[in-house]
Amino acid sequence: IPVNPFDLVLFGATGDLAQRKILPGLYHRFEVGQMPEDACIIGTARSDMDSDAFRDQIRASMKEFAPQFKKDVLDRFLKRVSYVSVDVMGDKGWSELAKSLRPDVVRAFYLSVGPNLFSNIAQRLDENGLATPDSRIVVEKPFGHDLASAKSLNEGLRACFKEHQIYRIDHYLGKETVQNLMALRFANSLFEPLWNSNHIDHVQITVAETVGVEGRGAYYDQSGAMRDMIQNHLVQLLCMTAMEPPSKFAPNSVRDEKVKVIEALEPVEPKDIARGQYRAEHGDDGYVDHVGNPSSRTESFIALKVHLGNWRWAGVPFYLRTGKRLRARESEIAVYFRDPPHTIFPNVGPLRGNVLVIRLQPDEGITLRTTIKDPGPGGFRLSDVALDMSFADALGADTRAPDAYERLVMDVIRGDQTLFMRGDEAEAAWAWVDPIIQGWEERGDRPARYDQGSSGPEEALMLLHRDGRRWRQIG
Ligand code: BG6
Repeated sequence: IPVNPFDLVLFGATGDLAQRKILPGLYHRFEVGQMPEDACIIGTARSDMDSDAFRDQIRASMKEFAPQFKKDVLDRFLKRVSYVSVDVMGDKGWSELAKSLRPDVVRAFYLSVGPNLFSNIAQRLDENGLATPDSRIVVEKPFGHDLASAKSLNEGLRACFKEHQIYRIDHYLGKETVQNLMALRFANSLFEPLWNSNHIDHVQITVAETVGVEGRGAYYDQSGAMRDMIQNHLVQLLCMTAMEPPSKFAPNSVRDEKVKVIEALEPVEPKDIARGQYRAEHGDDGYVDHVGNPSSRTESFIALKVHLGNWRWAGVPFYLRTGKRLRARESEIAVYFRDPPHTIFPNVGPLRGNVLVIRLQPDEGITLRTTIKDPGPGGFRLSDVALDMSFADALGADTRAPDAYERLVMDVIRGDQTLFMRGDEAEAAWAWVDPIIQGWEERGDRPARYDQGSSGPEEALMLLHRDGRRWRQIG
């Protein structure tokens, strides 16, 4: 269904995210007919260039990041694209930008720039009369560095925009499988009755990456995995897994429930944290070389054992882990059900509980580990088999999986905030994260070293071994 006509102003339009994700995402929505032919995309950045040069830049990016584009469709799409050079710290370009906007269509300002510019741009949009009561403003992560900075970003944005106009992106919420988790839990009757501490032993949430921090060292070394991934993406996955059923799939119903989960997060003890940093080896640079800081104590890997202090989840550990330069790129949520209480089968030992795995990437899908009888007459033996559903196989292998950004940008135009973080949600997540970071800074903890291509430091394995459990294998 096509969205209404819109003007989308993209700040930071020549930057990496815009060229790699946002513009190709808009192209794909145009190709399938969801972006109307009379929509306008106005790229802005500081560089002086004309619209033709900007279009050439997009063409080059499409060849690199979305090479399957159709040339005639791209030509039509690019007719909808223009460029205005704007100095966000000064006066240049604002009146020209104002002239390029139409009065009677949805207006969205997408800030694909550093958070230090958010408040300033919001203020300029307001002063120059560009922001209408119906305009939306979209901001990228990182949404602050700690609770204090997140609060001041919220204040800066809210000085010019109302909360219902502010879209804080966490691209994990745009991933198909994350939304599917909502469908799995709340559109089926099978799982929800079991979704609590009576039946679930523990949950493992893994976001493993093979990439390092190359090229983003300056930002990353100030952040580390806790701020870069846990505070946002993994906390969001945890929320989707642990939240109570919202009364409807609507922005505030869903976000109210997510905030309750974040507020139920208990403080994490130092023994329940394992931090790691990938080391140099076989002539490959390590983390400290990539960030250019030989004495860095920033973690490129973290594993945590987390508890939620509420009725549903009392006593159920949620193990979270994420890291760079690991064995495989693999993200999943694995829900471990309790072992059957008693076995009626002689000589088979204790039975293992079912495991429901929601695979986010790659090969999105759902697997349920079940136990069956080994086929054949050779005695009664049991085996584990996976009831395995790959979305690509089940729904048609040649359906291109839309990128998270495509979905989210269209939601902005539709005015649907369900998959965006509310201000109080971001603040609540920082309020949980801050003391954990403060703790290791005060203690002067150093991350353990781990091999590139491994599944993280030994300490992370111990986190589960100690509890008589094991991580699922990465790769
Ligand atoms: C970003 C982080 O938000 O998410 C990156 O800043 C990380 O460090 C990326 O690599 C992971 O996203 P995805 O979609 O590739 O899993």
